[in-house]
Amino acid sequence: MLKNDTFLRALQRQPVDYTPVWLMRQAGRYLPEYCATRKVAGSFLQLCKSKELATEVTLQPLERFPLDAAILFSDILTVPDAMGLGLYFAEGEGPKFERPLRDEAAIKALAVPDMHELQYVFDAVSSIRAALDNRVPLIGFSGSPFTLACYMIEGGGSDDFRRVKTMMYDRPDLLHHILEINALTVIDYLNAQIDAGAQAVQIFDTWGGALAYGKYQEFSLAYMSKIVAGLKREKDGQRIPVILFTKGGGQWLEDLAATGCDALGLDWTVNLAEARRRVGDKVALQGNFDPNALFAKPVAIEQEVKRLLADYGNGSGHVFNLGHGISQFTNPEHVAALVEAVHRHSKAYK
Ligand code: CP3
Repeated sequence: MLKNDTFLRALQRQPVDYTPVWLMRQAGRYLPEYCATRKVAGSFLQLCKSKELATEVTLQPLERFPLDAAILFSDILTVPDAMGLGLYFAEGEGPKFERPLRDEAAIKALAVPDMHELQYVFDAVSSIRAALDNRVPLIGFSGSPFTLACYMIEGGGSDDFRRVKTMMYDRPDLLHHILEINALTVIDYLNAQIDAGAQAVQIFDTWGGALAYGKYQEFSLAYMSKIVAGLKREKDGQRIPVILFTKGGGQWLEDLAATGCDALGLDWTVNLAEARRRVGDKVALQGNFDPNALFAKPVAIEQEVKRLLADYGNGSGHVFNLGHGISQFTNPEHVAALVEAVHRHSKAYK
């Protein structure tokens, strides 16, 4: 039995005593202890591949702050790596692929990888679950098919998604083929994380918001819908909630809510009260504190927390989070102030 199931209850819009909180990228470079463990591992990828070290860094933020959920320490790009694209991190440049998808033959050869290639991720999930000892639930995750395709086609990060968008307009059949393979892979990958012990899953659609109206529905949303339909939603009598997060997806909340997911992640551009009105009782909402507001003093952070809690209003169905990942330049003391303010001020709304 979980000692703290507030996060899972909020996702199912069941009564809670306070608003649960976790932070995207809560384990990361803003924590000196993370940097120390990463040094021991030798590289970020080695850190992901060692279940002992991945477990250690997953638990680090929980030792510092009373967070209501843990998130598997890994990366969305483990999936294309398992497909044979050759993931590497160039110092100070972010992720890159040795063999990006640049021609029709490579695209046609793309296949759902054997899940054994990702066994190290499932081993990390089991190891983290054991170390958590039911303290809080563990979140598993993957990238969305479209967001993964952006990295697979561009070969790394991109400002303009030139190659992906050229393919989308010139050869939509090729992009659809990649997205189909990605969706089938993500279904297997998340179901295996659930089998290994993930108690909720989140799909990160970091780049869906870069798509035009209509193209978002066709090239990102449709494949996330397919994943939602293919996931195990219950294990050992417990619901496994699914959270969809499209950064920049505020204008498509009704479409996202109609996928059958349990909750929507919101970036900071959305008003929580309005979002709640729009999705009604279909889904819970997660978000949406501006990560850059964490640079401000604790008193300003507390004001922003109070504003968001008031915007959401009374009752359950809200998981407090950032609107995107935490910056590496964040002061951990400011994170402590955020978590404390959420727990303290949210009780009045329950
Ligand atoms: O939230 C957590 O604590 C879990 C771990 C997690 C990481 N990446 C660790 C990480 C999660 C959930 C992700 C998801 C991820 N990875 C996304 C989707 C969410 C988002 O941020 O938009 C994306 C697009 C990636 C791809 C990726 N991985 C990028 C663009 C980068 C470089 C950015 C940077 O901050 O340097 C990474 C590397 C990465 N993934 C780091 C961490 C902690 C930093 C690596 C390091 O230690 O040097």
